Amino acid sequence: MKNKIIAGNWKMNKTRAEAAALIEELIPLVSNTSNTVIICVPFTDLELAIRLTEGSNVHVGAQNCHWKESGAYTGEIAPSMLKEMGVEYVVIGHSERRTYFGETDATVLARTKAALNAGLKPIVCIGETLSERKEGEMEAVLTRQVVEGFKDVTAEELTNIIVAYEPVWAIGTGVTATDEQANDAIKYVRSVFARKYGKVAADALYIQYGGSMNDGNAKGLLSMSDVDGGLIGGASLVAAKFAAIVHAHE
Ligand code: 13P
Repeated sequence: MKNKIIAGNWKMNKTRAEAAALIEELIPLVSNTSNTVIICVPFTDLELAIRLTEGSNVHVGAQNCHWKESGAYTGEIAPSMLKEMGVEYVVIGHSERRTYFGETDATVLARTKAALNAGLKPIVCIGETLSERKEGEMEAVLTRQVVEGFKDVTAEELTNIIVAYEPVWAIGTGVTATDEQANDAIKYVRSVFARKYGKVAADALYIQYGGSMNDGNAKGLLSMSDVDGGLIGGASLVAAKFAAIVHAHE
């Protein structure tokens, strides 16, 4: 059986002082887990997070990177800059970036390829909105996001990618997908990957669930056959809650 990959997405939260306190509280709480633990922190907390987690089992990720190695892209961060710092993971294509910052499947693909080329492991987010689900378009949307968003991704590259299925209607709303809804959608996503990369590669791919996962519902979600982990927003900002999710299914 696969272990679980539990990643916190802090989003735009935690100053350096707050980040230090959270990380120092978290490290001993998760030190004995068999699951993989990742914290994806704001750029300004990365250096601190890498220093404080050194020698621990907590891995560090960023929340975005650009698709170019350098150049006139004011405000952007290149994947090689992250890699040089010691960053391991990077969230790509989060729905908040798709909604507020104009991310498309094409930019998600470009950022993913650049991250891979720099030696980072992308956590690529996909998911349907409430209206898309209500209109029966969930499968079409997920298919498009996988087909377009992974168009140039090779089978070898796929082994360095984590996918996060995050239904937009469940993010930050307190409305979690049921265990079955999460599992069914992830199974569907896996079938789309299987069409392109084959069943063995699709089965090996880690697909997380994200959207109002917390210490109360994590056990049920993580016990489902196809849910390989979680991408956690709000609950990752409280050490005890995040640690409880890390330990929910071991
Ligand atoms: P919440 O856990 O706050 O719903 O956020 C989920 C998410 O967007 C993680 O990337």
